[in-house]
Amino acid sequence: MGDTITITDDRNGRSVTVAIGPDGTIPSSALRQLDPGLRVYDPAFLSTASCASSITYVDGDRGILRHRGYPIEQLAERSTYLEVAYLLLHGELPTIDQLEAWRHEVSVHTYVHENVKHFMQQFHYDAHPMGMLVSTVAALSTFYPDAKQIFDEQVRAKQIVRLIAKMPTLAAFAHRFSVGMPFVYPDNSLDYASNFLSMMWRVAEPRFEVDPVLSHALDVLFVLHADHEQNCSTTAMRTVGSSHADPYSATAAAAAALYGPLHGGANEAVLQMLERIGSVEQVPAFIEGVKQGKGRLMGFGHRVYKNYDPRARIIKRTADEVFAVVGSNPLLDIALALEDVALSDDYFVERKLYPNVDFYSGMIYQAAGFPREMFTVLFAIPRTAGWLAHWVELLGDPAQRIARPRQQYVGPPARDYVPMEDR
Ligand code: CMC
Repeated sequence: MGDTITITDDRNGRSVTVAIGPDGTIPSSALRQLDPGLRVYDPAFLSTASCASSITYVDGDRGILRHRGYPIEQLAERSTYLEVAYLLLHGELPTIDQLEAWRHEVSVHTYVHENVKHFMQQFHYDAHPMGMLVSTVAALSTFYPDAKQIFDEQVRAKQIVRLIAKMPTLAAFAHRFSVGMPFVYPDNSLDYASNFLSMMWRVAEPRFEVDPVLSHALDVLFVLHADHEQNCSTTAMRTVGSSHADPYSATAAAAAALYGPLHGGANEAVLQMLERIGSVEQVPAFIEGVKQGKGRLMGFGHRVYKNYDPRARIIKRTADEVFAVVGSNPLLDIALALEDVALSDDYFVERKLYPNVDFYSGMIYQAAGFPREMFTVLFAIPRTAGWLAHWVELLGDPAQRIARPRQQYVGPPARDYVPMEDR
């Protein structure tokens, strides 16, 4: 017999014994067996596994991240973003023919309907590109009404290709709008990352010459951001998907969750913080302020990692490669000093606060010329593969139903309506 746990209801002596399942989970139905009225109170899901998933494995204590069993270090070094996207979605690495077919499919779906372009040109002149991306992804559902057929596998596969292919186009269009530049159409002869860089930066040249070091670095960053199991945005994707909404609406909801500064918005917040600190000399005073509760050290800490985020390690290496081409980022010295102080300070050590994926990524993006407002957009592009992989898994999981948590009601008891003149 494997490991079990026995829960006793001390009100009546009744008890139930249940097996401890994979990853240390026990079914909450055990409590319902004791008393159908019992609920688990778990704000922010600190101890709740809301699904069984075979996509991504994270061991936060040991700093391990694997997709479909493959370590992130090997994927970042030897794979490409499109190959990892295929792996996340299909469960296995593609053969040469499968990868070629997948690349071809994605590259011939990069264009967007001209009305999408017109629609994007109507945003307020200083619209945040992430706000534009969220709204435009949602708007795509109006262009592809067939997407509602979420249980038709062929239809579903088509929307997945469309979303992965069009995200870079929408992201680049959002940037071009915000700087008043004409939109650059996709160049389908380029690889995924290079095509995105061409849409971002091309001006009058007939063909944009992409620096291979930069496009490789961007592709590695895309690999590192492709999925991270049940984070806030993936949970939003699954929650909206559980109502059987179309994938564009669910992806827009996930992107909206990513926009927040505690999630994908953190890389932008890191840069703001480093600029506010201003110099290495100010680092100790800033750390003191954080310890006194005057703000957080952005890019530090993680709900799951209580060790160095393995992605942050790889990003630090990628940063060196990029800085060798474009010159270092002056904020790097402040970041390194912050990391040094934080990793040796009791406050951060006791709370197991280590650099996360966002601590160095913003500096690479900035050195490569991306405006700060684009940082979260650069996270949303690759995370689309992860969101969609979870969406497909959710739809095929017979244990899943519409997401509908319960609550602990703590409001007033029943009372009678008070007429206006008596209040
Ligand atoms: N700076 C200073 N103190 C912190 C930080 C931080 N960055 N993060 C957590 N703490 C403290 C927090 O004040 C609390 O202390 P105490 O026990 O004295 O109240 C303790 O550490 C535990 O923090 P928590 O807020 O309960 O942890 P959480 O798991 O709810 O939050 C987090 C995780 C990522 C939201 C949080 O660490 C944070 O706000 N970090 C800064 C934002 C950031 O970098 N986000 C990117 C996350 S990684 C990529 C992604 O998910 O998109």
